[in-house]
Amino acid sequence: MKILIVGVGYVGLVTGLCLSEFGYQIIFVDKNKEKLDNLKKSKCPFYEPGIDQLLDKHLNETKRINFSSNLSNSMKNIDIVFISVGTPSRRLEDEADLTSVFEVSKEIASNINNYCVIVTKSTVPVGTTRKIKEIISQQINKNKFDVVSNPEFLREGSAINDFMRPDRVIIGTESKKSEEVMKEIYRPLFLKETPIISTSIETAEIIKYASNSFLATKIAFINEVADLCEVSGANVQDVAKAMGLDRRIGSKFLNAGPGYGGSCFPKDVKAFSSTALKAGIKLSIVDAVNNSNKLRPIKIANKISNYYNNELKNVVLTLLGLSFKPNTDDIRDSTSIIIAKELINRGAIVNAYDPKAKYNAQKEINEIKYFDSAYEACYQSNGLIIATEWNEFRGLDLNKIKKILVKPVIFDLRNIYSKKETNLLGIEYFGIGS
Ligand code: UGA
Repeated sequence: MKILIVGVGYVGLVTGLCLSEFGYQIIFVDKNKEKLDNLKKSKCPFYEPGIDQLLDKHLNETKRINFSSNLSNSMKNIDIVFISVGTPSRRLEDEADLTSVFEVSKEIASNINNYCVIVTKSTVPVGTTRKIKEIISQQINKNKFDVVSNPEFLREGSAINDFMRPDRVIIGTESKKSEEVMKEIYRPLFLKETPIISTSIETAEIIKYASNSFLATKIAFINEVADLCEVSGANVQDVAKAMGLDRRIGSKFLNAGPGYGGSCFPKDVKAFSSTALKAGIKLSIVDAVNNSNKLRPIKIANKISNYYNNELKNVVLTLLGLSFKPNTDDIRDSTSIIIAKELINRGAIVNAYDPKAKYNAQKEINEIKYFDSAYEACYQSNGLIIATEWNEFRGLDLNKIKKILVKPVIFDLRNIYSKKETNLLGIEYFGIGS
């Protein structure tokens, strides 16, 4: 089986490298030559645990992967093409921008020789895969190809494990032939008893958006419950734990915090709603989730600001964590960055440290002062904000932190410490939802 991956972003690279682990030959195609040159030197464009090793292995040992910037030349004898180009939000609109998806589809169409399965791996609104089919069939006969929707459920920071041990694989097809090809690809997972769910193409597309939107709903829900806990003397962690023990609810994605961020939830929640609206359906719950989450980091900034009597001018605050979650250097829609910008706008001086995201953050915002360790970032600071739950923040020497801070106060936006332990050390503590 020879596989072509078009679009070497996060999803494309992880998918291709993991499929290479299964033994398939992979060609990665991307327009960005600089990125390809780096990849050919085993340099991954982003941080993801385990990816460097896979890249090195398949580039230099198994030699099962190749990189090219020429889609036409790479199509020869290809059995499957995964489209994994970006689908960012359109500027000023909530819809997904499908320009790249359709451009790539046209180019694929003009280069199909033998029967080939075209798979949408990018997150695309319902109806997109069928549009791809229309585009391709304008150029070649319908019996020379099939389209499939095969959404991904990879989390940044644990993407390789998510690919190798998924809860399920969704295959949206409209022909037995393409369904068999897809099942063959995922056979190694089927042997590990992973549920492989065959659906219609539209169903598969909606499964992806509904899943992300539902997870986002859980987070927005528990965040609002956290607000109630704070004013009523309850503890949101205990509430979430007890709720989660009900198997109908489940314990995952009930960690209250500064709001969800990243390149997926904020964009997908908005796109899900706008796609539905175009079809005449109002997803009012999804809209409420989006609105609630947009306000969340501002509320957190207000809470911090209130502590300083809303006089933040020249108040130095330390921010630990810039990425939208741990184990990634991705700062897209990161709530830490939103909070930092908000505090800076109100006059604060923000000292920040992140184990991996410093470089990306520096490109986006130069008003932050960047440091190379948590302790360095705490010098002369009037308070510590823990914004991302990186493991190295869980084991901070709090005695040392107390001595370094001008004012020993912690705003723990991820509830990784407790009021009891910090108060015992003489540190004031504000968690989320207690
Ligand atoms: C998410 C989904 O979890 C993946 O299944 C999906 O494939 C991916 O989007 C995608 O569409 O590509 P990801 O954005 O990498 O993955 O990260 P998550 O672990 O889902 O976290 C998203 C945000 O929610 C983060 O800001 C995180 O801090 C926040 N979060 C998560 C909470 O605030 N509380 C929680 O309990 C869980």
